[in-house]
Amino acid sequence: MLLNFVFFLSQVVVIAQSGCFNNGDKEIKGLCYKLVPQKLSYEDARNWCHYQNPVTSSYLAYVPDAQTSAFLASYARVAFGSDNLNLWIGFNRNNSNRQWLWDNGAPVGFTYFDILGSGNYVAESTINAKWNTFMNTEVFYFACSYDPQAPPTFAPVSTPPVPTTTGN
Ligand SMILES: *[C@@H]1O[C@H](CO)[C@@H](O)[C@H](O)[C@H]1NC(C)=O
Repeated sequence: MLLNFVFFLSQVVVIAQSGCFNNGDKEIKGLCYKLVPQKLSYEDARNWCHYQNPVTSSYLAYVPDAQTSAFLASYARVAFGSDNLNLWIGFNRNNSNRQWLWDNGAPVGFTYFDILGSGNYVAESTINAKWNTFMNTEVFYFACSYDPQAPPTFAPVSTPPVPTTTGN
């Protein structure tokens, strides 16, 4: 009885510790996803996830299976109030050798293309959660993903420093 209760408590702690770093982020299968309401090119979106998501090591979204793709599409439909938009995910082809790569370095396994076009950069559609290829120059909303168990790499965002003025 007591052991059961202790086990229960330890599970509660595990769940509490696996929360995402920011309240609006959502977790599925051990990764947290942040939707970013800015339309950027693929490279700018990737840079945003790497350098402006103040949590821990963060990447343009890793989508390892159909369930995660559907989860992201439904999250984006609600967050952006649109049934029909494209969302950059962290899947792209190397310009030199055309090999597919995940931004977080995960091995390439599952893919979920609707139409596999000639573009090197992948966005998923909120219509059916399937993926299409685009040029880097398209601007779309995007999702970042991160491991909430990973150590934080940034201090929490505070107010920006006041620029020092030197006269003139
Ligand atoms: C892209 O392909 C080139 C040529 O094979 C290779 O040298 C380079 O390391 C690749 N880049 C990445 C990010 O894998």
